[in-house]
Formats: sequence, structure tokens, C-alpha cells
Amino acid sequence: MRVHTYEKAFLWVGAVMLVLFLGALSYASLAMGIHLPGKVAQLDPAEVRSQPPFDAPGLRQVGDNEYEAVVLGQIWSFQPSELRIPRGAKVTFISTSADVIHGLHIERTRVNVMLIPGQISKVEYTFDEPGEYLMICHEYCGSGHHLMYGKVIVE
Ligand code: CUA
Repeated sequence: MRVHTYEKAFLWVGAVMLVLFLGALSYASLAMGIHLPGKVAQLDPAEVRSQPPFDAPGLRQVGDNEYEAVVLGQIWSFQPSELRIPRGAKVTFISTSADVIHGLHIERTRVNVMLIPGQISKVEYTFDEPGEYLMICHEYCGSGHHLMYGKVIVE
């Protein structure tokens, strides 16, 4: 079978790109430790509200300008709906949903996770810029979806 020169070149370009991209992905995940916000643990969704840490959602200081924000998504609000943190704070968001699938996205940040009932997700972010950040649900979760929002205030 005869393969055209251009066709051969095109196949080589494709093969090299594939190897490069796989290499970049492997490097990012293995050497740099970059992962998607992952599942940390699974709770029974019906019991979420009575299980720590979701029995007391909110913000706690865990170190020098380091905080832990326990955020519970439910129809149709976030608990708590407002978080006040100082500028430069590193915040670890620990979140889940108590009922249906919700989303947690904080505008202008890379905080963007799906809240799957009972599944605990963790994501970290350092707020260097002061201001108000809108926190929204980005998964359609029913008739009140558009009302499901909160805010992070960086002072
Ligand atoms: Cu919760 Cu959309």
C-alpha cells in the first residue's frame, strides 16, 4: 500500500502531538501533583446534616491566615451563604450536597466543583485580591436553581 508523503507527515504530526500531550498530562499529575477536585470521602446523603463537619457548616481558622470553609449545598441555598475572609487567606473548601446534584463555583477563581449528594469534595484557593466574589450553583438543580448563590467577601 502506498501512503502519500503528506499523509505520512500528517500521521507523524498526530502521533508526536499525542505523545506530547500524554507526556504533559502525566507530568502534571505525577510530577506536579495537579488533580481535579477529588472525592475525599462518601457520606450517606440522608445523614449529611448530622455528620461532622457538615453538622456545623462555616468558616474556621486552621492556621496563620489559613481557613477551612465547610459549605453545604441544598435546595436552594449554600450553607453558609456568606464567607468573610482576610486578604491573602488560603481557604480549603470542603463541600457536599444534602439532596440533589449541585455545583459550587466561585467567580474569578478556579474553585469549581460538582456537589454530589454525600460525596465530600475538597478544593483549595488563595484569595489575593480583595473584593466580593459571587458563589453560584452551576448545575441545574430544580426550579430554584437561579436563586442558589452566595458570596465570599475578601477584606
Ligand atoms: Cu443548586 Cu443549581
